[in-house]
Amino acid sequence: MLEFICLLHHRRYIGAVIFDFDTPIPRRGTGNIKYDRRPELDPFWVADMDFASCPEILEALHRRVDHGIFGYAQAHDGLNDAILSYLDTRRRATVPLSHIVHLGGLVPALSLAARAFCHADEAVMTCTPVYPPFIGVHHDAHCELITVDHSFEDNTWTFDWESMEKAVTPKTRIFILCNPQNPIGRVFTREELIQLAEFCERHDLILISDEIHCDLILDPEAEHVSGINLPERFQNRIITLMAPSKTWNIAGLGYAFAIIPDDSVRRRFCAARGHTLSEINALSYYAAEAAYRHGEPWRQELLAYLKGNRDTLVEFIRSRCPGLSIEPGQATYLAWIKGSSLGNPAQHFEKTAGLFLSDGAFFQWPGWFRFNFGCPRARMLEGLEKIAAHL
Ligand SMILES: Cc1ncc(COP(=O)(O)O)c(C=O)c1O
Repeated sequence: MLEFICLLHHRRYIGAVIFDFDTPIPRRGTGNIKYDRRPELDPFWVADMDFASCPEILEALHRRVDHGIFGYAQAHDGLNDAILSYLDTRRRATVPLSHIVHLGGLVPALSLAARAFCHADEAVMTCTPVYPPFIGVHHDAHCELITVDHSFEDNTWTFDWESMEKAVTPKTRIFILCNPQNPIGRVFTREELIQLAEFCERHDLILISDEIHCDLILDPEAEHVSGINLPERFQNRIITLMAPSKTWNIAGLGYAFAIIPDDSVRRRFCAARGHTLSEINALSYYAAEAAYRHGEPWRQELLAYLKGNRDTLVEFIRSRCPGLSIEPGQATYLAWIKGSSLGNPAQHFEKTAGLFLSDGAFFQWPGWFRFNFGCPRARMLEGLEKIAAHL
């Protein structure tokens, strides 16, 4: 035991030296949407971080680039092994390779699910506020959208079961879940997820579980329960979606994967691809393998740093920003902040402080905004000071 603790401390010590999250890396003019879409603004919006990815991922990419040939790619054995081993050790689920579907991103998977399971007079259902594509992919399927607000009880965001029962219709076909939830940062409990799976069973819905943020749990007591961890009887209606992209900051490489245990659900999902998706990026496969195989020490350091950022941000908003309110999220590097006294707070801070924030209206919750704290702490504090100065 002592040896184990010493090892942990040693690794933390080494980690603190090796992994530098404080030194800013200039990003303007590198062709990224966060900084270059509105170059006149100071960006804290889209969900990518201002940190270089972990060294093992960079090395894997260099090695693959050095090969020099970038023909059409497919997932290599090393990636498949790394994913199955990650699911086994970190998500505690034994998954056969045949259940895995490789994808060039997670949003295309949401669109595929809507197109695969919903006809024109049918509906997609989800709870808001939520990541905007959840309330957009029904357009791809030319079908309806049903939304129900999450409720806020005893300082916790949860599901409004009564309103969900009232809103669901016989034509509803899929429910899209975001867990951990973007933007509210909740990690739903096993009880809540079983209740949701029962809701889906009762109304014969396919449950699409977007778990892109599942490796970014900041509070160790908030255990992430994946769709693949739910009881066997629900597995014929669950599609679980994961990716290394948010955690290891490689979203621009484009890679995600689905776990679909039921053969006919998997066939329908894959058939919806038609000719709409290109082959997956050859480099992304190698980055994903390195993330799952070697990215754990970096991830641990990242989580400690992000937790520090979150706590500093919450304290700042509560002590320095009258009129704004926040409940600390349990996961992600995204803070969900209420500012309805300012009308549209994102627009207000854009005009007065030159900040680029995510407007709550895009998450179907006007009066709120999302602040991305996946950046060096000093930079985060500069952004927060601008907010405090323009209240
Ligand atoms: C919940 C959620 N799903 C999906 C995505 C994007 O996934 P991808 O870039 O793989 O399409 C994001 C990005 O912020 C997200 O927060």
